[in-house]
Parts: sequence; C-alpha cells; structure tokens
Amino acid sequence: MTRDQAWEILNKHLKNDKLIKHCLAAEATMRGLARYFGEDQEVWGITGLLHDADYEKSKGHPEKHGLLLFELEKDIPDDIKHAIQSHNYDDTNVMPETKMDWAITCCDQLTGLIVACALVTPNRKLSELTNDFIIKKLKEVKFAAGADRSKIYMCEEKLGIPLIEFVTIALTSMQEISDQLGL
Ligand SMILES: [Fe+2]
Repeated sequence: MTRDQAWEILNKHLKNDKLIKHCLAAEATMRGLARYFGEDQEVWGITGLLHDADYEKSKGHPEKHGLLLFELEKDIPDDIKHAIQSHNYDDTNVMPETKMDWAITCCDQLTGLIVACALVTPNRKLSELTNDFIIKKLKEVKFAAGADRSKIYMCEEKLGIPLIEFVTIALTSMQEISDQLGL
C-alpha cells in the first residue's frame, strides 16, 4: 500500500478537517518513531494516517472503532490492520503486540495533548512549545482531560523510550508539518 492510496482511503471515510489533521499528526509522529527505531517509515506512517479512518463511520459504536475500517477496506496489509485494531484495545479487545502496535497506541493520545498545548501558546504555534511545557501540562490532569495519560506513560514500559524522549520525537515530528496542521 502506498501513502497516496492510504490518503485516498482516509479522505473517502473522514470528512472532519480536525480529525484529518489529527491523523496527519499521528502519521508524522509514527514516522519519527520509525526513524528512531530504524523501522519502515512508510508502513508506520500509513498506520498513523489511517488509525482513525473509521472514526466518523463508527460514531456511537466505540466497540467498532478500529474494526469497521476493515469491513470497508479489504486491501490494507495485516501488520497495519493489527496495529489499527489494537490502538483501541479497550473497546476492540485486540491487544497490541508489536512495537508498531504500541507506538500508535501511545502516540495517539500524545499528539492530541500537544495540539492542546499549542493552542494555549500566545500565537497558537507548535514552534513556541518546549518539552518542559508539554510535560508540565501532561501532569495537569484537568488540562486536555480527553488525552489518556496512562497510554502516554506506557511509552517507557512498552517501547523502552523515556517519556521526555517520546515527547521530543512527537513534538519535532509535528513541527515538521506545522503548515499542514495549521499550528
Ligand atoms: Fe487517534
């Protein structure tokens, strides 16, 4: 599967611009993580790009989020499929197993938190963010409460990446596509 094919699938199923940007942020971060691990950036990037592709179509049925996409699209490779199914393991009961599975599970929540952090900077820019600020906001449980901190912290146990490093990778990866993210 090529990035172009994945982009086409994403836009076929998702219409909300904010969600599409979230998927682009996840793609960028997954690419950064693949680079860190010396893994395949295309495969990891496509996993990030498509991880929420069925979000709108599974609305109201959280147990289908992560599974429905594969009823609609039959040509997505198995490793990407497993990672996407397992990133919502609380609802799908498909457990993450590989490093790529855990990468999308952990970074999904972090990208959302980073966007929320950017939005409270004076000029609403990713370039104004520092690691320390993000870590500080991470510890404020009431800030961007929708971002599941427990999943972010799992980067240490499941991926073997120190939290500060994990935040750095996500932030720098997202800064690389700040224009596309509008931040
Ligand atoms: Fe997501």
